[in-house]
This record gives sequence, C-alpha cells and structure tokens, in this order.
Amino acid sequence: MSQDGVQWCRVWVTMLLLLPSAPVEGGELRLMRSVLISLQRVQAASKTEQEILDLPPGARPALYCSNKCTLRDWCQLWCAYPSNTPTHCLVSNIIVMPTYQETNMGDVLTCHTTRPKDLATNTNITAGKHYVPNPLRVKENLVDGFYNYDLNQCFYTEWSDNDTWFTLDFGQPKCFQHVILYAQVNRNAKKHFNNVQVRVSNVTAVTPPEDFAAYDLFGEFPGEASPGQVVEMKSPKPMCARFVTGHMLHIYLFQVCHIEVF
Ligand SMILES: *[C@@H]1O[C@H](CO)[C@@H](O)[C@H](O)[C@H]1NC(C)=O
Ligand SMILES: *[C@@H]1O[C@H](CO)[C@@H](O)[C@H](O)[C@H]1NC(C)=O
Ligand SMILES: *[C@@H]1O[C@H](CO)[C@@H](O)[C@H](O)[C@H]1NC(C)=O
Repeated sequence: MSQDGVQWCRVWVTMLLLLPSAPVEGGELRLMRSVLISLQRVQAASKTEQEILDLPPGARPALYCSNKCTLRDWCQLWCAYPSNTPTHCLVSNIIVMPTYQETNMGDVLTCHTTRPKDLATNTNITAGKHYVPNPLRVKENLVDGFYNYDLNQCFYTEWSDNDTWFTLDFGQPKCFQHVILYAQVNRNAKKHFNNVQVRVSNVTAVTPPEDFAAYDLFGEFPGEASPGQVVEMKSPKPMCARFVTGHMLHIYLFQVCHIEVF
C-alpha cells in the first residue's frame, strides 16, 4: 500500500473507530467492516490461506480475532463463530466486499473484511463474450463482491479483439480515485492480463471496444501480469464518471478475477 493509502486508512480509522483495531506489535492499523457471509462459503474456499484458531477462555472475540488477522499480512477477512458464543476465529485471505449480498442465509455469519466499500460491487456490467468452454467465468463474477482465488470466480473472454473488455455502469456519475484489478493466480496471467487500459466516460459506447478510444484514460498496465498480481491504479485527484471500462489491447483471451473501484 502506498504511503498515501496508509494515511487515508488512518484518517478513516480515527473517524469511524469501528473496531478495537489498535496498533498491535508487528501489525499495522487496518479498518475492518462487517459483512454477512455463509460460513460454509468461506470454509469451502480451497485455494486460499486460511487458519482456524481456538478462542482462549475469557478472550474478547472481536479483539482477539481482529488482532490475529492484523498480524497476518495475507489476512483479508476474519470471522468469530459460532455467532452466539464464539469458540473459534477463522482468518482468511478471501476477498469479501463490505456490500456483498449473501444468498445462502442458512449458516450466515457476521465476518469482518479489510476491503473498502466500493462502487463495482452490485453494479451493472456489460462485456465482450465470455469464453464458452468455461461457462462459469462470466462477467457477473466481477461485480459479485466475492473472490476466493478460484479461476471459476474470474471473467474470461473469447479470443477476439472485439471481446476483451468489460464496462461497469454506475447509473450516474460517481467519483473515485482507485481502480484495482486482480490477475489470475497462475502463470498464464502473463498471457491473459497483458497491456490493459482502464478508461472512464459518461457516454455509452455504442460500438465497444472501438469507442473506448474517446474515453478518458484512468490508468494503464502496459506489462504482463505476474501470477496473482494486484494492479492498483490511482489517479492524483478523484475522477467522476458513470462508466468504467477495462480493455486488454493484447490480442488474446482476457481474464480478470476481481475489481474494486473506490
Ligand atoms: C470487430 O468489430 C468490427 C466493428 O464492429 C468488425 O468490423 C470486425 O469484423 C469485428 N472483428 C471480429 C474479429 O469479429
Ligand atoms: C442496473 O440496471 C437495472 C435494469 O436496467 C436498473 O434498474 C438499475 O437501476 C441499474 N443499476 C445501476 C446501479 O445503475
Ligand atoms: C461526468 O459528469 C460529471 C458530472 O456531470 C462530471 O463532473 C465529470 O467530469 C464527467 N466525467 C467525464 C469523464 O466526462
């Protein structure tokens, strides 16, 4: 995280003080936001860093679990469970956005995420055709607010220069300063996430991706992504726009696994 990013988090920590995320030895300040998610969905995430810890007798679950998460640099989510009298903490690197909407309410639990509130989660998305042999890797995966590092949670396009793009539509202009894109976790990332531009506009592209040339450039990633690379683009000042596009200019199948806009 950039120095600016750290400052920004601190400001919010002091303003909101949601949780006792006090400075911990070896850790850093991190704001955590609560989110409802199915415990089974968290536990089923196979390709992840995850630990289950016993809650010592008398320990306060929120303090104990949030400190354990803060001490692990990979931790993005913690849950104390079962909800009524917690006996365990689960700490995980899976990405659950604060506005994620759980559909499986049977074993739903309040967990806490380090991820920011963002504009991409639950918004409308249009995109080039997805790669048919992988029917699960649809564009909706980019706006569902959940990513567990499984390739089936990514969006994967056809191999055509007309299909290697997606557009988020916020319905009206919204202001943001950060766009974060996650490349797939294996070494094919270099082929499927290569020379990517993010552009913004208030005008619908009638013929995408051709029309994106008229959009304002927000940021670009000229290189080949490394496995699991998290590409963070930050504009010096907030930009306001209704549409945000991601477009891979390298002619190949484009794959993006998660996106955040805030
Ligand atoms: C891409 O779209 C353009 C303009 O609509 C069209 O002329 C071209 O044939 C398309 N290319 C492919 C590979 O479908
Ligand atoms: C998404 O599209 C639906 C249907 O067109 C619309 O009702 C809804 O308001 C849109 N949401 C946003 C955030 O623009
Ligand atoms: C979109 O419209 C908003 C408000 O009307 C304006 O502030 C913003 O600069 C526009 N964005 C672009 C990319 O034109």
